[in-house]
Amino acid sequence: MLELHINGQTKRVQAEAETPFIYVLRNELGLVGTKQGCSLGQCGACTILVDGKALRACETATETLSGKSIVTIEGLKETFLQDAFIAEQAAQCGYCISGIIMTAAALLRTNPKPGKQEIKTALKDNLCRCGTHNRILKAIEKASQTHSESVRHV
Ligand code: FES
Repeated sequence: MLELHINGQTKRVQAEAETPFIYVLRNELGLVGTKQGCSLGQCGACTILVDGKALRACETATETLSGKSIVTIEGLKETFLQDAFIAEQAAQCGYCISGIIMTAAALLRTNPKPGKQEIKTALKDNLCRCGTHNRILKAIEKASQTHSESVRHV
């Protein structure tokens, strides 16, 4: 039995220590917003935040997450990112999008106003086979503007 802190809640899960966390997320916790693509750490579909940093759930042993703060797309507080992706119609099939949003969230936490090249660099290991890259870039730029404006008005 492993205890995990996920999306602001403490959950106990029955899993082998070495089980890749993507299986625990989707099969034990029912958090299916995180997608499983390559299972090899190469596509980024399974990206989650662990202690605020983007991490691949498919290549992370569940036991290594004990005591850390895990956030999935279901618990992401930066909902302005989802709003911007919807506004820009940035998804086609959408399979890669939650991983891309989580990577973008990690970027905006350290760099709230990234330039286009910084966004491209942050996303270089998140693959999108539909080719909506330009809309994804626009969505993240829009999200960073919305975010900085909302912070300015607080
Ligand atoms: Fe984890 Fe592709 S499923 S990187």
